[in-house]
Amino acid sequence: MQNTQDYQSAFVDYLKNFSKIREPKNLYEPINYILRLGGKRLRPVLTLMSAEIFNCDYKKALDAALSIEVFHNFSLVHDDIMDAAPLRRGQQTVHEKWDTNTGILSGDAMLIMAYQLFENYEPETFHGLAKLFSKTALEVCEGQQYDVDFETRDDVTIPEYLKMIEYKTAVLVGAAMKMGAVVANASKNDQDGIYEFGRLLGIAFQLQDDYLDAFGNPETFGKQVGGDIIENKKTYLYLKALDFLKASEKNQLEQLFTVNLEDNFEKIETVKQFFTTSGSAEATQKEIENYTNKAFLVLETLDISEEKKVLLKDFGSALMTRKV
Ligand code: IPE
Ligand code: IPE
Ligand code: MG
Ligand code: MG
Ligand code: MG
Repeated sequence: MQNTQDYQSAFVDYLKNFSKIREPKNLYEPINYILRLGGKRLRPVLTLMSAEIFNCDYKKALDAALSIEVFHNFSLVHDDIMDAAPLRRGQQTVHEKWDTNTGILSGDAMLIMAYQLFENYEPETFHGLAKLFSKTALEVCEGQQYDVDFETRDDVTIPEYLKMIEYKTAVLVGAAMKMGAVVANASKNDQDGIYEFGRLLGIAFQLQDDYLDAFGNPETFGKQVGGDIIENKKTYLYLKALDFLKASEKNQLEQLFTVNLEDNFEKIETVKQFFTTSGSAEATQKEIENYTNKAFLVLETLDISEEKKVLLKDFGSALMTRKV
């Protein structure tokens, strides 16, 4: 059993041997670029950690962890096209550095590479991983479509928002953990339990992502602060603000979320003020805590030692206070 940093560096070492430049360069260079840009490596660390929690050498889970990270990075390349995002991990996004077509095709190749990595497992494990992966990947697409559909809808509800973030983000966190359990050949109860833990933690994670998108520090956040406001994303912050504001302010906020402007400085400042004064920023933080605590409750259903539960709780608590 190791700490988060150890898993992270073991993973990054493994990744270095995976991404090699081949011909045609315009297909493989962007793949290398995004995979080496860094990031928190949250999902692969969870896969490795989960394998060891269920008594398997983490090294056996490295290909599953890599698959999850390659898939995640694929989804970011396409997400940045869809969100017209200029920055990722403090650097230019793939479609900005190259162009949109490059982002589309390099992303497609990454999705295939992610799947291909399961070929390194024996048939039974391969089947378990591939089945989980296909289901999850399709759900991510569904979540991403809802996210885009919601940009132009003015009647999005909080349950709809929660379903959207469950699909676009949380199921992949759940799957990352379950893959570790599949590689470890854990019991069905443990596999389902660790998935549920990851799913709930994933919901908290996306709520926090939305929070940081508005209130993160531009110097360190690595993405364009206010990007969700520019794109009229119907986040928890926004939906809760509509709940809390009095009619005239509610109308003003709704009006701001119907426009697509050239210069967004004032829009971002005004919207952030509504988020703060309405109490929605605070309510979002409360909800992050709620989902994290729900995840912790699920740990009680797992057949693992107290020490391992503490390890998972520490990881969840650290995520809650992250700044990037
Ligand atoms: C960003 O994921 C996309 C979301 C699902 C919120 P991360 O915040 O894990 O991104 P990196 O990999 O650390 O850059
Ligand atoms: C991304 O959600 C979810 C996926 C990539 C599937 P966001 O659009 O909020 O992620 P960021 O903020 O760009 O990282
Ligand atoms: Mg985005
Ligand atoms: Mg998006
Ligand atoms: Mg975001």
